[in-house]
Amino acid sequence: MSETAALTPAGARWAEMLASWAIPDEIVARAEVPPWSHDPATFAMDDTADPDDPVHALARELLPPDGGSVLDVGCGGGRSSLPLGPRARHVTGVDGSRAMLERFAASAESAGIGHREIEGRWPDVAIEAELSGTPVGRFDVVVCHHVLFNVPDIEPFVVALTTVARLGVVAVLPRRHPMSAWNDAWKHFWNLDRPVGPTSDDAVAVLNALGIEPEVIELPRPALSRHADDPVALVASARRRLCLGSDRDDELREWLAVHPPNFMREVVALRWPGGSDLEGPW
Ligand SMILES: C[S@@+](CC[C@H](N)C(=O)[O-])C[C@H]1O[C@@H](n2cnc3c(N)ncnc32)[C@H](O)[C@@H]1O
Repeated sequence: MSETAALTPAGARWAEMLASWAIPDEIVARAEVPPWSHDPATFAMDDTADPDDPVHALARELLPPDGGSVLDVGCGGGRSSLPLGPRARHVTGVDGSRAMLERFAASAESAGIGHREIEGRWPDVAIEAELSGTPVGRFDVVVCHHVLFNVPDIEPFVVALTTVARLGVVAVLPRRHPMSAWNDAWKHFWNLDRPVGPTSDDAVAVLNALGIEPEVIELPRPALSRHADDPVALVASARRRLCLGSDRDDELREWLAVHPPNFMREVVALRWPGGSDLEGPW
């Protein structure tokens, strides 16, 4: 994470609310896998990644009809950008996780879409590239799905997304923090009350404070990957999220059968023009 101080009260408030999601150290110490990390299999392109999903139309309609370039920040396995092909002729994926980028590259390859991978955290990789004289470049459209709730220092992140976009940015997030799905389980297994905010409205407030007036579009959530319907994968996911050991698997399985996690069924898409006058963080 970059260490830039928040620029506006809305940005400071976002960071403060995200910080309230910290898991007590004594609980994290018992985790077998870092609770905030993602299993790459969950974000793989599979047959549930529907190119006709309305969320993709928001980006596709910005792209030139004869094809354009896309930057996908926090690309995971490419579920947010690869469905934009063939209108997206070239897709650049940025992710802090090498395992995710490997999946992204393999899926782009099999879809016949030109691709490039940049490993590292946004906006740090863009800032470093700019300073070293080989900027990441400019892209027709920038997409960023299901990442903002991972970003305490949201303002330079958003400014950098906007700066490198020629035509527009589409950021997608659930209305509430994605870990809210596990709040009841946290209460049950650890007797811990989890926070409520921030919400997508707080993300909009940050954009407004930066002088950006995004379109705000509520959409049904694209199908979760097959992984989400697999009971074995769900127990593994719960174990990771809740910092529990595999010795609790039977207990988890029984509890989840009666209390499935409250995964959100709708998302909020924020779309705004690129190439703004915002000063980049460089
Ligand atoms: C929840 S996954 C979403 C993946 C994909 N966008 C999708 O919708 O399927 C979030 C991804 O963002 C990456 N990520 C989180 N913060 C990031 C940052 N500041 N820079 C680059 N990648 C980041 C994580 O490694 C992870 O792969």
